[in-house]
Amino acid sequence: SHISRVTVVGSGNWGSVAAKLIASNTLKLASFHDEVRMWVFEETLPIGEKLTDVINRTNENVKYLPGIKLGKNVIADPDLDNAVRDANMLVFVTPHQFMEGICKRLVGKIKEGVEAISLIKGMEVKMEGPCMISNLISELLGVNCCVLMGANIANEIAVEKFSEATVGYKANREIAEKWVQLFSTPYFMVTPVQDVEGVELCGTLKNVVALAAGFVDGLEMGNNTKAAIMRIGLREMRAFSKLLFSSVKDSTFFESCGVADVITTCLGGRNRKVAEAFAKNGGKRSFDELEAEMLQGQKLQGVSTAREVYEVLSHRGWLELFPLFATVHEICIGRLPPSAIVEYSEHKPNFA
Ligand code: NAD
Ligand code: 13P
Repeated sequence: SHISRVTVVGSGNWGSVAAKLIASNTLKLASFHDEVRMWVFEETLPIGEKLTDVINRTNENVKYLPGIKLGKNVIADPDLDNAVRDANMLVFVTPHQFMEGICKRLVGKIKEGVEAISLIKGMEVKMEGPCMISNLISELLGVNCCVLMGANIANEIAVEKFSEATVGYKANREIAEKWVQLFSTPYFMVTPVQDVEGVELCGTLKNVVALAAGFVDGLEMGNNTKAAIMRIGLREMRAFSKLLFSSVKDSTFFESCGVADVITTCLGGRNRKVAEAFAKNGGKRSFDELEAEMLQGQKLQGVSTAREVYEVLSHRGWLELFPLFATVHEICIGRLPPSAIVEYSEHKPNFA
């Protein structure tokens, strides 16, 4: 039928908010079935109950988004195959490191003609070079895949504070408009942009800039330094994106997915927060340890993204062009101290 069924693959902090946004709209829009399936990576809570059972009993993701009702039409499902079986529209929103495994499990399990969207900020690096997550999804599953990125700290959207987001699409404007319709609410304003690579690279690369901002905070270097880091970071984001995909547009960096996401993540994100703690400890405690201690099961994307970007830079001989990206990785692995975040500034890469 022409009535679409939506499944959300993922149920972390942002995944749960995405399900809430979508579920509020499927109730109102005749072109969507009311029910929204949400695949949950099952776990047993300290109280001995399964997370899925608690979500379905209380209508809250008590572990990753406590205190927020998702909507009664959100159904948590621990069975991935079952969750996607009847869907025409798939929303992918897990930490990026799990997506390759999930896609491999989904081969042959989804319906013909499915449309996909990725809310995932990250990439994979293969022998052949970098592979964006939307590309992994479309290659492995044989589907078209849009992206949604933006200045979207999940906990703020959960309590319906106004924000904007950007949908990136390759060619099909109608499909992009359908995703815009599915996500838009009076407090969540979504704009479509024909630059899927640019939008996704913005969302991915800003997490590396956020680590740099966190180091600056941990060392109490002040607002001017942090603003400088954000500016240099944004420049490197644009240069790197354009070197990878010549089609990437300058205007994309002025959308919510670009400058606005850099700002919000450098002010209030998890990557910033954990990087601040890392610098405060002089790099003596690892990111893995700090992540586990500070985030209650939520996952950082920036540390692995910094490594992935570094691999691309060293493989292509671009390290000199991207001092901020390179330095962030070297700080993360302990090769440089956190204070090195401002020590590359005499280098003036000429990619502008
Ligand atoms: P999260 O950080 O809350 O991660 C935890 C999720 O990972 C949980 O659902 C957990 O069950 C799941 N998980 C743990 N181990 C797993 C495994 N082995 N296989 C599959 N799943 C496993 O997740 P999130 O905040 O929803 O982030 C998902 C994506 O959305 C990330 O790429 C993130 O950068 C992006 N994002 C997050 C926010 C935010 O504010 N949280 C905002 C915008 C974008
Ligand atoms: P963090 O993962 O650093 O919290 O960033 C969230 C985000 O992507 C905001 O848009």
